[in-house]
Amino acid sequence: MKLGIKQKLSLIFFLFFLIFSGTVAILLVNVQRMVESTEAIVTKNNKIEELSENLMTSILEMDTHHKKLKVLKKDRYSEYFVTSKLSFETSLETVVLLSVSSDSEALWKEIDFSYKRHREGLWDHGTIPEIGQEWVTDQVVTFWVDRINLAKKINKEEIKEALWALNETSRVSAQNGLYGFCTSIVVGLFGLIFLSRAIFSPLKTLSRALLRISTDKKHQPITLKGGEEFCELAQAFNDMSLQLYEEETIRNEFIATLSHEIRTPLSSIRESVNMIVEEVFGPINDKQRKFLKISSVEIQRINKLLNHLLNVSVLESGVRKKSSTKITAREIVRTSSELFSSQAEKKKVTIKIKEPTKTMSLYGVREELQQVFVNIIGNAIKFSPESSLVSITWQASPNNSFIIFAVSDTGPGIAKDELSLIFTKYYRTKKVRGHLDGVGLGLAISKKIVTSYGGKITVVNNETQGCTFCFSLPTM
Ligand SMILES: Nc1ncnc2c1ncn2[C@@H]1O[C@H](COP(=O)(O)OP(=O)(O)O)[C@@H](O)[C@H]1O
Ligand SMILES: [Mg+2]
Repeated sequence: MKLGIKQKLSLIFFLFFLIFSGTVAILLVNVQRMVESTEAIVTKNNKIEELSENLMTSILEMDTHHKKLKVLKKDRYSEYFVTSKLSFETSLETVVLLSVSSDSEALWKEIDFSYKRHREGLWDHGTIPEIGQEWVTDQVVTFWVDRINLAKKINKEEIKEALWALNETSRVSAQNGLYGFCTSIVVGLFGLIFLSRAIFSPLKTLSRALLRISTDKKHQPITLKGGEEFCELAQAFNDMSLQLYEEETIRNEFIATLSHEIRTPLSSIRESVNMIVEEVFGPINDKQRKFLKISSVEIQRINKLLNHLLNVSVLESGVRKKSSTKITAREIVRTSSELFSSQAEKKKVTIKIKEPTKTMSLYGVREELQQVFVNIIGNAIKFSPESSLVSITWQASPNNSFIIFAVSDTGPGIAKDELSLIFTKYYRTKKVRGHLDGVGLGLAISKKIVTSYGGKITVVNNETQGCTFCFSLPTM
């Protein structure tokens, strides 16, 4: 049976509650038992101990007073005897009542029975013995003293046993409490691990899949373990991913076909315009030449855009059509910058190349590598203000397997919340959307190329003005 997250949570909570309340119940029962034992010791056994002391004194006093009465024949001993007798009898009565169901019960009853039997034949309850009246023999007194002593000893044993039992109960309670506590912690921990595995592992799979979608745009169905809820989530995700993938494929194919289809008639138009400008079909006037030049520039622009669009679809297919070659960093930076020399000159932008002393070489498809430099340097010049500086430098990565290039400008920079978006296809920052031309594909293409070589591309805003693009490309 497969349990959902809700059922799992309830099960763990129920187990935890069961163990916790069980521990508390056992502890309560033990505490109750301890209270009872303490009560018995305090109210019963200690009182019996006290009374047995009293009985011992009274019986010896009775014996002494009676003997003195017999020898000295003074009435006051008779009174003393009665006082001790009364104390003895009250104590005996109380002790017999108190000792019910205790170990010393039988002994106290025996003493009581023996005392009452002797008393019947000697003096009535409460009457003062007269001079010369008989008292029990010394053997009887010794018998009573022995019995009282024995009963006292038994009572003491009982106290000792009760204390032992109390000690044992508290020890067991402490142990049970500890076991219960440990078991609750273990169950809690297991529950936590179990739940976190049940929740976090599918969530991790999901977040990885989401990341894959946002970077590769590839459809890879996922399965999520961990109950009904996650199965539904996985299904929804797979449906969404498939739909995105299909839409993306259709869009790419459409763009590729369209660009291809437009390029052919565009070439004919360009050729025709060029032939007219070159006066192949007869002379043209200056005004005609001026407008034909404008047309030629615009045709070139459309051509560039179509190349960009086609480039994206080629890169998206992931197939590398040309073979890799070795090329020095110096050469690729210089040739790429030279492509922009007239544009830079127009804006009076200086391109400063800060070359490291050591010669370093890149390894890859020349056209692809160059495309990255053209896009990044082109942007730097395009977004630079008039009479400013674009600087280019590079250095080897710590493990020497990459060269890290840095291109900085003093343009408008990029707003913080747009930094992560500029590498997305067709994204152009709010600042430039309105006035500077472009389609927002250069950086997306550059990122595709750089990452396909295992490199990274990043951008940071400069402290004062503009921004710096850093990208790494592989060495030999
Ligand atoms: N050097 C730069 N300075 C400021 N913004 C830049 C720079 N480079 C790129 N960007 C921003 O990133 C966006 C995307 O760049 P890119 O993909 O080359 O497209 P495009 O150049 O066609 O606008 C640009 O529209 C611009 O908003
Ligand atoms: Mg660009």
